[in-house]
Amino acid sequence: MHKDCVIELKKSSIDVNSSIVLPFFEGKIELNGISKKADEMSEGAISKILKEFKGEKGELKIVMPAGKLRSVALMGLGKKEAIRNDNLIDGFADAAKTLRNGGSKTILILLDTVTIDRKVHAATLGALVGLHRFMMYKTKGLDKVKNVETIFIMIEKPELFSEEFREAKITAEAMKKTRDKVNTPPNDATTDFVGDYAKKIAQENRLKFTLLDEKKLVQLKMGCILAVGKGSATSPQIVILEYNGSENDKPLLLVGKGITFDSGGYNLKPTNGINNMKDDKAGALTVLHCIESAAKLKLKANIVAILAIAENLVSGKAYRPDDILKAYNGMTIEITNTDAEGRLVLADAIAYGVEQYKPKGVVDIATLTGASLYALGHFTTPIVGNNEELIAKVKKAADAAGERMWQLPSWDEFGEVMKSDIADLKNSTDGPDAGVITGAMFIKNFVSDYPWVHLDIGTTVWSKAEKGAKQKGATAVGVRTFIELMKNWK
Ligand code: BES
Ligand code: ZN
Ligand code: ZN
Repeated sequence: MHKDCVIELKKSSIDVNSSIVLPFFEGKIELNGISKKADEMSEGAISKILKEFKGEKGELKIVMPAGKLRSVALMGLGKKEAIRNDNLIDGFADAAKTLRNGGSKTILILLDTVTIDRKVHAATLGALVGLHRFMMYKTKGLDKVKNVETIFIMIEKPELFSEEFREAKITAEAMKKTRDKVNTPPNDATTDFVGDYAKKIAQENRLKFTLLDEKKLVQLKMGCILAVGKGSATSPQIVILEYNGSENDKPLLLVGKGITFDSGGYNLKPTNGINNMKDDKAGALTVLHCIESAAKLKLKANIVAILAIAENLVSGKAYRPDDILKAYNGMTIEITNTDAEGRLVLADAIAYGVEQYKPKGVVDIATLTGASLYALGHFTTPIVGNNEELIAKVKKAADAAGERMWQLPSWDEFGEVMKSDIADLKNSTDGPDAGVITGAMFIKNFVSDYPWVHLDIGTTVWSKAEKGAKQKGATAVGVRTFIELMKNWK
């Protein structure tokens, strides 16, 4: 059976028959301390292979068996000056996976060979997330699946790193849970399922929980999310979680798009566009697991997470192109494309959120557009916002967390195309140009001048390949950035 492994932070030591990971920077490599001991135990196998090992980024050399050791993974990190947090995380993930695939059940990651900030964090996170797989729906061959049972993160003075280690474990947990839930198919992960799950998380972490069910959404006149959810047998809902870690401070508001399946509605997606539209709920699951992490980390910040949950289907009740909706803030919206539903559910959720919580900043995260692929490709998340200070904070958090994010402009001219001839706004434009920005410009109408940043994870939400800390499937993009942002939130 596939089980999650145990991880411990311990003082460096090596037993016979261990499987070890040894990281090195590029350049002259000298063995001392624990790496020298490892070499002795490997009966010189390590120093021998080091002759042809450069320490280049992504380099991974495995010796198996190596003298008295079961296996050794020499891991290259590249030049110390050029290294980023994601390189570290990916490197440890690859090393751990390779040892697992070679049959190791216990892995020792030895960190004394490199001096670099946050190495305990990167090793812990990389190993945990890298080894994680989504197996809930596999019924055959599980007995043959290779598993790591224990990971030891080893360092000379572990007592100095317990906080970093704890943060990494909580972050890894948030990523794994986000991946699992995003990967869960839409017949199981219905709107009610996501809402109930959010309630469970709130209860476990003593977070204030508010459910705006369909009846309440009607009372509140949230015409947009109601319309998007109309075609589905499970009703739309908005879920709000609040974490109070600081006195009297105005909160950071995190808003996530939670479309449990996006068929496109009457503007139905074609076959190759409709597959995988279960990933359209990723934003909601990201903000949920991030507020959970804030509570677990006892961060000194006030956080509000809003999940805008609905399913976009076709039925006799579904909303249509040509409909005109009225959003919570009173603006009217001509529907020109039922597939541009994410911005609609966010419109109500954000308008309500800013009115209720008067936040210091709003960050929304949404699989909003396919156009994000053309804007910045597979691994970079576009940022659009209305406030340079908040944008800088998000960028800084992303850089520190090792997630690639890049700002696109939000000049007023981009917003012009979202105006309708017969209503205040329309929800899509005629052409494909600047789709990420125009989508964001639509949302901007609902933030009432509060500092706001929008992350379009339409492309970065999913990975087709297994690489570094990524598995095939949901990536949990945004989790690391948000945790970093909340840690430094003032
Ligand atoms: N959920 C999609 C965006 C998406 C597409 C995410 C492909 C991941 C992969 C979103 O609701 C959508 O359909 N957006 C439209 C917007 C358009 C109609 C203005 C799009 O991108 O085509
Ligand atoms: Zn859509
Ligand atoms: Zn969508």
